[in-house]
Amino acid sequence: MGHFTPLVVFESPEAACRQLAADIASFIRSNDARHRPTVLGLATGNTPLPLYRELIRLHREEGLSFRNVTSFNLDEYVGLERDHPQSYRSFMHRHLFDHIDLPAQNIHLPPGGVLTDQIPARCTAYEASIAQAGGIDLQILGIGRTGHIGFNEPGTHIDSRTQMIELDAVTRQDAAPTFGGIANVPTHAITMGCGTILAARQIALLAWGSNKAAIVRKAIEEPVTDQVSASFLQTHRAATFFLDRAAAAALRE
Ligand code: GLP
Repeated sequence: MGHFTPLVVFESPEAACRQLAADIASFIRSNDARHRPTVLGLATGNTPLPLYRELIRLHREEGLSFRNVTSFNLDEYVGLERDHPQSYRSFMHRHLFDHIDLPAQNIHLPPGGVLTDQIPARCTAYEASIAQAGGIDLQILGIGRTGHIGFNEPGTHIDSRTQMIELDAVTRQDAAPTFGGIANVPTHAITMGCGTILAARQIALLAWGSNKAAIVRKAIEEPVTDQVSASFLQTHRAATFFLDRAAAAALRE
């Protein structure tokens, strides 16, 4: 069994993201004041979009600067060129990086477009670059309907590190609309491992809407299991779930 995982329930995704973005902004500003860098772990999917919109607003309207921030994304599809419209790199540029002053050299995503035989070495290098940056201060997570964090599908070990994985059928189905059909969805991805994610000093998992309610309940209220990698957050000292009412609806307490 794990321990109680803190959760906060908000009226709406926007309200949750206003809170989280404000926390991130004050964290960045206090690091800036001490001449310390900030290392953020970022996620893709629809879930973090209101967070990215709010961070962009804080940059434009309230002078929040990302020049001392370094980012590491959780995952990337295998077999897509960097500039492919559905690559997570393109997604991050569209929804965040192109609209803030995060220096290009500070942006990191797992390498999805390299030849398969180069992937293990590149995964090791990704881990090394996270370590070299001093580790991740705050990791943002969504949750897939299989309970995955990053692309750590059921069965992934709690100590796993950045690696190539085969995508679950449910996950590929969920991605099909953005790819214009399941046939176009890659079969593999590179993801930070569960151990990589759990090494972050703080973690914020975001979930909205009724279709996440069942898996959120499993992650929070059922025993820790590798069948739901989000349940591993129960073992982390500083992991918080940010939920809207619909995503929290199945919780017992
Ligand atoms: C994909 C991503 C995950 C994300 C999940 C949920 O599998 N790799 O990081 O959490 O989708 O997506 P959404 O936020 O669109 O519900």
